[in-house]
Amino acid sequence: MRARKKKNTIPRLERCSEYLTEQIVSETGRDFYIEIGCGKGKFITSLAESRPDDFFYAVEKVPDVLVMAAEKAKAKELTNLKFLLADADDLPELCPAGSIRGIYLNFSDPWPKKKGARKRLTYHTYLEKYRKILAPDGVIFMKTDNQGLFDFSLAEFRRYGYELFDVVRDLHASDVENCFTTEYEDRFTALGQPIFHLKARPVPGYEPPEDERPVAGTEDSERNIELDSVPER
Ligand SMILES: C[S@@+](CC[C@H](N)C(=O)[O-])C[C@H]1O[C@@H](n2cnc3c(N)ncnc32)[C@H](O)[C@@H]1O
Repeated sequence: MRARKKKNTIPRLERCSEYLTEQIVSETGRDFYIEIGCGKGKFITSLAESRPDDFFYAVEKVPDVLVMAAEKAKAKELTNLKFLLADADDLPELCPAGSIRGIYLNFSDPWPKKKGARKRLTYHTYLEKYRKILAPDGVIFMKTDNQGLFDFSLAEFRRYGYELFDVVRDLHASDVENCFTTEYEDRFTALGQPIFHLKARPVPGYEPPEDERPVAGTEDSERNIELDSVPER
């Protein structure tokens, strides 16, 4: 599917060009973090504003959406946030290995049908990519409204060598810190839906068993489960 692009998106992106980059680079002496699928950018611009000593990158594959996030960063005159118009698939090529302190996955698309399972951002092929770019003590932070995606993700993280912590099924009613909300989070919370949350850290030295290694382009039917408990949105 081609990414949507409105007529005025290109000039708007050009006006924010100082916020766009094609590569993630280590900022000397600063910890850095990425959000994958930043949407309109409420979360990442708030986070970057609140932590001026850290550096943030936001990855988003839809230009019409990314431009709104970049405009928010520009309006706040942030100097510690840049955006990549890119697909999460390409992260290992865009990012130094072993460098990222944290990856935020906020309200990722659930892809509830079995045939879309491998596009879920917590499918094991993505978990392998994240393992390559995370620093040794790096952490993945995940929030979702979608119970099916959450349960799938818990199983996928456990099976592919991550330890889990701060796992809660109602973030806003829990003691776990929720630094900033996202656009989707505000929408689901207003509807009274609970927000699911986890953190995951790669287990050092983990090697998947030979027969479980993901093989590119092959069908892995056992893991391509349908998220039938939740409707597509
Ligand atoms: C459901 S929206 C959530 C947006 C935002 N994180 C929030 O919580 O409000 C998911 C976003 O992830 C982006 N996305 C989905 N798959 C992606 C991928 N493989 N690489 C980069 N962005 C992706 C979509 O374009 C969309 O903007």
